[in-house]
Amino acid sequence: MCGIVGCILQGSSEVAKVLRDALKSLEYRGYDSVGVAVCSEGRITVKKDAGKLEEVDRKLNLRGLKGSVGIGHTRWATHGRPSQENAHPHLDCTGTIAVAHNGIIENYSELRSELAARGHVFRSETDTEVVPHLVEEGLKRGLPLYEAFKQAVSRLEGSYALVMIAASSPSRIYFARKDSPLVLGLAKKACYVCSDIPAILSYTRDIVTLRNYDIGYIGVGELWIENLKLKAPVKRAPMRVTWSAEAAQKGGYPHFMLKEIHEQPTALRENSRISREQLEKMAKHVVDADNVLLIAAGTSYHACLAGAIQLLNYLRKPISAMISSEVQFMKPHIDSRTALIAVSQSGETMDTLKAMRYAREMGAKVLSIVNVFGSTIHRESDDTIVMFAGPEIGVAATKTFTAQVHTLSMLAVKAAELSGALDHGEAGKLNMQLREIWKAAGEVIRRSEIKAKSLAEYFARRHSCFYLGRGIGLPTALEGALKMKEIAYVHAEGYPAGESKHGPIALVEEGFPVVFIAPRDETRAKIAGNIEEMSARGAKPIIVCEDGDQLAEYTQPDCAFHIPPGYSPLFSPILYVLPLQLLAYYTAITRGYDPDKPRNLAKSVTVE
Ligand code: F6R
Repeated sequence: MCGIVGCILQGSSEVAKVLRDALKSLEYRGYDSVGVAVCSEGRITVKKDAGKLEEVDRKLNLRGLKGSVGIGHTRWATHGRPSQENAHPHLDCTGTIAVAHNGIIENYSELRSELAARGHVFRSETDTEVVPHLVEEGLKRGLPLYEAFKQAVSRLEGSYALVMIAASSPSRIYFARKDSPLVLGLAKKACYVCSDIPAILSYTRDIVTLRNYDIGYIGVGELWIENLKLKAPVKRAPMRVTWSAEAAQKGGYPHFMLKEIHEQPTALRENSRISREQLEKMAKHVVDADNVLLIAAGTSYHACLAGAIQLLNYLRKPISAMISSEVQFMKPHIDSRTALIAVSQSGETMDTLKAMRYAREMGAKVLSIVNVFGSTIHRESDDTIVMFAGPEIGVAATKTFTAQVHTLSMLAVKAAELSGALDHGEAGKLNMQLREIWKAAGEVIRRSEIKAKSLAEYFARRHSCFYLGRGIGLPTALEGALKMKEIAYVHAEGYPAGESKHGPIALVEEGFPVVFIAPRDETRAKIAGNIEEMSARGAKPIIVCEDGDQLAEYTQPDCAFHIPPGYSPLFSPILYVLPLQLLAYYTAITRGYDPDKPRNLAKSVTVE
């Protein structure tokens, strides 16, 4: 996720040092390029490049820039690859206005064409670059700088945290925010603008949090904020932050994992921004292929399983999901009529890369869904969808799993529409559910937290448990069990519910916890039978089901998690997994383990 910082120092020209140090503390958010712009003696100098801060600083000597006002940025690529041109800050044609931006400007291509037609020259592929050119355009029309900035911002659709400096106004930083965080820091002889509090905590603890549609400028001893929606000036009182920098990075959450669980509504909302063209392009490959093979490892494999079930629901052709490290040995049917979809959060998993290379040799079309732009899997694919989940820091995948299932759901609906399995109206209704599902995700998390915490006390004292599901409930069961074993170290088996009587049931004894995934679909009646079967042998059933479903009566009220209705059961992994992530998290905490650092595991597994 991109990080922004801006600073003005009174009586010092060492602003670049502050920017560099603040960018260093934004590194945890993940990025692929970095840059700073400093204003001095009526000129703006920009230094930026792809790569990590240390590397770029060594190469370009960012700290060597002299000046008292500047902005800096770490970029997590969305529009355009990581490169020197695409790194922020971006300049207008005259080189006197510099802008850094977090978020996505959805109408940038219209704005870009309009500005290009007026003679503006673009140097990057980014959405952000339209902003300095829009401001330049306003100045050409004779507007004062702040008015030009305001008019530029009012033309933007999408999300933004924006900072701007201008050579003509060297004692101010201009800012605006909508749907991307931005805070201001106040000090006696300095002021700061930043996307994240921790980056400026070593300079000031007096923080002003901006709200959506806030716009204004800051200088030392000067602050102007108005709200574009309210069309009025607003006062935002500073708060004194007392947390440590580390706690602040986690946004007040004790662990990144919990923060990322809670970020899922936002991640899902952002993920809806995957472009229609991109989805259509990949869906076309899927529809044109004779067979489709989804491959991945771990959590991403569970998303593949969900994706395969969704695609099978609509398309009449061989579609399967396979663990990537098995592909070379199981030798599934792959030829030039195969569409292979590799799914990977990191985009670097060696098992998945090897399977992709194997499939390419057999002639397959190699597609991928990743969360990291420019990753190896992205680069080695014929076509890729890059998700908008934002970087995931906790080792246990949470928000990237739900974003993967969300992406695959959108792909399945698009493929169904292209193939004629769904008409335009039906597809439209499902797409609407996928656009709105982030709200239900927030609701599920709110409802589940206390129950998960109290159930965790029970799980923390057990050696073993089962997670059972059928059909689309199975990937959720597998994922719930994986979370429990990897961070809480409780042996958890995810199993097809029907298969559980063919062996695993032998383990069941009095009080043995069994989690049932029960979306309201054709598996529900069978799941009811499985609950009875397990309960008769003394199991303690924990049930995840829809609001008002009588299945919940098979257990005590504090052992049932309720999911809001109104969403296709095919999308159920997105919502039904949320209580299970919380259950695993709180079980790890109750057992005294650090969920962010599970033993023997790494975030990116680059060995076979
Ligand atoms: C589990 C987890 C792993 C990854 C797996 C694949 O919480 O994170 O199982 O899902 O290592 O990683 P990616 O998705 O990066 O290919």
